[in-house]
Amino acid sequence: MQKVGVVGWRGMVGSVLMDRFKIENDFSKFETFLFSTSLNGEHAPEITNGHRKILDSDSIDELSEMDIIVTCQGGDYTKAIHPKLRKSGWSGVWIDAASALRMEEDAIIVLDPINRGAIEAGLNSGTKDFAGGNCTVSLMLMALGGLFKENLIEWVSSMTYQAASGAGAKSMLELLEQMQFFGDKFLRSKQNNAAIGALDLEKIMNTSMQEDNFPNDRFGGALGLSLLPWIDTKMESGQSKEEWKAQVEANKILQSKNTIPIDGTCVRVGALRCHSQAFTIKLNKSVAIKTVEELIRESNPWVELVENDKQKTLDMLTPACTSGTLKIPVGRVRHMSMGDDFVNAFSVGDQLLWGAAEPLRRTLLMCL
Ligand code: HSE
Repeated sequence: MQKVGVVGWRGMVGSVLMDRFKIENDFSKFETFLFSTSLNGEHAPEITNGHRKILDSDSIDELSEMDIIVTCQGGDYTKAIHPKLRKSGWSGVWIDAASALRMEEDAIIVLDPINRGAIEAGLNSGTKDFAGGNCTVSLMLMALGGLFKENLIEWVSSMTYQAASGAGAKSMLELLEQMQFFGDKFLRSKQNNAAIGALDLEKIMNTSMQEDNFPNDRFGGALGLSLLPWIDTKMESGQSKEEWKAQVEANKILQSKNTIPIDGTCVRVGALRCHSQAFTIKLNKSVAIKTVEELIRESNPWVELVENDKQKTLDMLTPACTSGTLKIPVGRVRHMSMGDDFVNAFSVGDQLLWGAAEPLRRTLLMCL
C-alpha cells in the first residue's frame, strides 16, 4: 500500500478533503500519515489504515518516507518545504492545493474532468508535481468545459461573486461578526423607535461601518451589506492577481495552442460558501442556444443545466443551494443583444469542493 502524507488537514480545504476521503472510503486504498508542526508527536485521529502518530510537517526526513504528499497548507509552506524535499532526492508525487507551483513548467494543474489525458500522460512520463487550479478557474472550466472542448470560445469575460470563505475561515467568521454587528444595531434602532423607516436604518448601518469597533480586520471594509471588488494583490496590468490567474491557469489546463483571452472583475460578496460567476462568452461563430445548452449539459456529470426561468433560477442557481455539494449549476444561458455569437451564462460551484479539494483527491486516486 502506498504511503500518503497529508499536510494542512485541519484547515478549511484540508478538512473538506478529509471528509471526502472518508465519505468515498478512500482511506482503505492507501496508508495515511498526518503531518503537522503544532501537533507533531500527538495521537492522530482514528482513520482506516492511518498511522497513529502525527508526524512533523517540517521534517524532510519524515516527509521523505512518503510515496505521495498531499498538501493544503498554503503557498508559504510549499515554497519553504518543496525545494528542500526535492533537493534531498525525494522523488515522490507532490499534490498541492496552493498556487506556488501551478505555473512551473514541470507542474500540471489538475482538473481531471477537463484534462485527465494530460494528468495521465504526466504520470506516465514521470511528472511529480501536481497543483489544483485557482477555485474560480476550476469552477469556470467545469461549467463551460463543453464549449472550450468544441473550440467555440473566442474569449470569455467572467465577473465573479466570491464567497467570504474563499479568503479563509477567519474571514468567514468576520463576515458573521459584521452581520451580528448590524443585527444588534437594527434591534436597538427598532427598540428606540418602532416606526423607524428603511432609509433611516440604511443611514445607521452605513455609518456604523465606520465605527472603531466594527469588525473588519480581515477584509479592511464592510462585506456584510456591501461588497468588495478586489481580491488579492495588484498586477502590473492593473488586474488583481485573482483576475490575472483566470487566463494563465485556464489556458495551461486547456493546453491551448493560442491563448484564449479570459478577463473580468473578481468581487468578494457576502455569501459564506460557493463562488458564482457571470460569463459573457464570445463564440467564434453563431451557435443555436439549444446546442450551447447541450454542450454545457453533456460536458461532465456534475453540471446541472438550469432552464432560463425565474423560479428555477432562484431554486437551483444560488450559493445557498449549491453549498456542500459537487453540483455545478449553470443557468441564465441565452444569446445576448450584441449578437448570436455572444452567450450569457451564470454558474455557481462550491469552491472548497470542485474549486479545491476534489481535483486533488481525484489526482491522488489516479496515482494509486
Ligand atoms: N482565491 C480564492 C478566493 C480562494 O480568494 O476566493 C479559493 O477559494
